[in-house]
Amino acid sequence: MSADRVVLVTGGNRGIGRAIAERFVRDGYRVAVTARSGEGPEGTLTVRADVTDAAAVDAAFTEVEQKLGPIEILVANAGITKDTLLMRMSEDDFDSVVSTNLGGSFRVVKRASKGMLRARFGRIVLISSVVGLYGSAGQVNYAASKSALVGFARSLTRELGARGITTNVVAPGFIETDMTAELPEDTQKQYKASIPAGRFATADEVAGVVTWLASDDAAYISGAVIPVDGGLGMGH
Ligand SMILES: NC(=O)c1ccc[n+]([C@@H]2O[C@H](COP(=O)([O-])OP(=O)(O)OC[C@H]3O[C@@H](n4cnc5c(N)ncnc54)[C@H](OP(=O)(O)O)[C@@H]3O)[C@@H](O)[C@H]2O)c1
Repeated sequence: MSADRVVLVTGGNRGIGRAIAERFVRDGYRVAVTARSGEGPEGTLTVRADVTDAAAVDAAFTEVEQKLGPIEILVANAGITKDTLLMRMSEDDFDSVVSTNLGGSFRVVKRASKGMLRARFGRIVLISSVVGLYGSAGQVNYAASKSALVGFARSLTRELGARGITTNVVAPGFIETDMTAELPEDTQKQYKASIPAGRFATADEVAGVVTWLASDDAAYISGAVIPVDGGLGMGH
């Protein structure tokens, strides 16, 4: 059955990635996380990797393969923001966000696809954002990197869909993590007022959707964008 499969979650030392790793552990999977700093939750194998570095990604995958076996489920979660208005956005603000969020997904998916093709099985989940579909002033770099994951997942579905590999996008709204804790209190209040659910989500509410997408129940879902946003992005 599915629950003893090997999972790799990027950025699993904190926030949403950590909650996803915890949930997979709870469900009985063999779980590895990448981290630049810190450690993954109890029961996971932590490997070091910066997703902007293809050689580091390759070494981390090799370590997981040696210790746990081929990676069957990949969650590309590592991501950053560097928010500022377009007029003030530097080349580096743009490039670093795109290279982490979009380039990082490309690097880990490319490396994971080798084993998945061999196994004729794979589940790829890309963590995007409601902002990628809805837009957000001050987040041109972030929104561009996150909306690009939709085209990425849909192209990959066309490339690998016949090989037992699904690729889906999860688009969280506002989740209680370090990323949203940085927002000024007034901004948080404004956001909550515009979310039909009237609150931010817990990271575990995102994790439950990711583990479901990795399960046998979701075998026929690919190229989908699943919002976990309390209704914020409806229709986008
Ligand atoms: N929080 C939200 O409301 C929200 C909403 C929508 C989408 N998301 C998306 O969900 C994902 C996780 O967000 P979060 O809120 O959990 O963020 P977070 O608490 O800021 O954690 C980000 C994670 O990504 C890792 N990371 C960042 N840059 C990396 C790099 N170059 N190489 C490897 N790892 C890197 C971090 O590792 P270090 O600890 O080493 O920095 C950390 O584990 C992101 O893709 C984010 O865009 C978040």
